[in-house]
Amino acid sequence: KSKRKAIIAGNWKMNKTPSEAKALLTELAPMVKDADCEVIACVPFVDLTVALEATEGTNIQIGAENCHWEESGAFTGEISAKMLAEMGVPYVVLGHSERRQYFGETDETVNKRTKAALAHGLKPIVCVGELLWERECDITEEVIARQIKLDLFDVSAEDVKKTVIAYEPVWAIGTGKTATADQAEEVCAFIRATLAKLYGQEVADAVTIQYGGSMNAGNCEELLSKTDVDGGLIGGASLVAEKFQPIVAAA
Ligand code: G3P
Repeated sequence: KSKRKAIIAGNWKMNKTPSEAKALLTELAPMVKDADCEVIACVPFVDLTVALEATEGTNIQIGAENCHWEESGAFTGEISAKMLAEMGVPYVVLGHSERRQYFGETDETVNKRTKAALAHGLKPIVCVGELLWERECDITEEVIARQIKLDLFDVSAEDVKKTVIAYEPVWAIGTGKTATADQAEEVCAFIRATLAKLYGQEVADAVTIQYGGSMNAGNCEELLSKTDVDGGLIGGASLVAEKFQPIVAAA
């Protein structure tokens, strides 16, 4: 476990206006300044400027919540990896289950976005996870292996090392229903084994694998104590400084 630095990332989703973003990050910065883990806030595109300013000189890093694979062009409403890179945004969440469920994101588009992000020096946080019925049908491992293989298709071993994988069982997102620490560990270990098969053990051991899905102050310690759970991707609890800080402190 000591091989990897833990990463606690907030995924704000479609929450916080720029002024609210500034207020939250200004409040959060002194609370997490002594963190042992990496601390990231992934924020809506319109909050990026203010978020980068508000966290300058702090240990909070900023991420976007998506990026397009083309550098520019007729893609109304999209934001390119090139644009984020020029802004100095270091991280980007890709393939979140909400993008897959509500916006037609597929493993193919996640793969294109991942490659574009890496090509522009951004570190992707690639989200994978099974639906409830997939778990009930006992095909969790097939689903996860497929997502890992397709989402990282044609990504070099060096680039895989820069990639963060977030395991988010879809049934645990925003539902208050957390995977048990053992369930989270089982799948995170399976993800690492899949990476080892594809890229070798050295690469697999270097990749930070997060758990996401109703992680909070009450359950984070047990989840983070697991060997292959290297951090968390936090939704609801990242929107309030007092709820986010204990998770950072536990990592
Ligand atoms: O990306 C984080 C996420 O989907 C988990 O959300 O609200 O269950 O912590 P939440």
